[in-house]
Amino acid sequence: MMKISTTIFTAMSLVLAGMASTAAAGDHSYGPYPAYYSEECGSCHVPYPPQRMTQAGWEIQIKGLKQHFGTDASIDAPASQKILAYLVNNAGVKEKLAPTEATARITRTHWFVKEHGTVPPKGKAFSDCTQCHTQAAQGDYSERSLKTPAGWRRGS
Ligand code: HEC
Ligand code: HEC
Repeated sequence: MMKISTTIFTAMSLVLAGMASTAAAGDHSYGPYPAYYSEECGSCHVPYPPQRMTQAGWEIQIKGLKQHFGTDASIDAPASQKILAYLVNNAGVKEKLAPTEATARITRTHWFVKEHGTVPPKGKAFSDCTQCHTQAAQGDYSERSLKTPAGWRRGS
């Protein structure tokens, strides 16, 4: 009797654990972002989800804002400290989330290349997430809101 109930309990725990991880994996909702973040870092491109890059990557981005991919995106010290704290507190820790280049592009992290390949839609850049993730500005990267441009297929 004891043995059976233990087995049932174990089986139920496994089912519950499985459900929880499926929900998390299929969700991909990183918003809503705080206004101070989406205003400063979402005017030229969408505010990128802090969870999808490591602390080291975000530190590189904030340190280099004066020369930010050919543009000056610098902000005053209190604002940049506040944003850096937000990014670091929500940063990912897994190795696949680490930047692979000195520029710390989120589109060059291992996970990104694995999910997207390296060939964006013709004449476009992957940095414009809204091409496919229609609700990316709100931090929603769920499959529901995904709509890839005609003719584009994830390559290698
Ligand atoms: C004045 C415009 C502007 C502002 C403001 C701005 N960026 Fe950018 N950002 C750019 C441009 C331009 C690129 C390069 C896009 C490309 O190469 O397709 C870029 C690229 C990036 C990338 C790399 C995207 C990739 O291709 O992987 C990250 C990460 C990033 N920005 C973070 C930030 C953060 C964090 C802030 C706020 C502190 C910010 N940006 C504010 C213009 C801006
Ligand atoms: C050209 C279309 C396209 C662009 C642009 C694009 N994505 Fe995606 N993204 C996809 C596709 C397709 C998938 C895979 C969906 C799947 O396999 O279920 C995906 C998956 C994802 C996922 C889920 C990954 C996982 O672990 O399951 C995230 C998060 C994501 N993209 C973030 C981004 C971010 C951030 C940007 C911009 C820097 C971006 N994407 C730009 C098409 C795109």
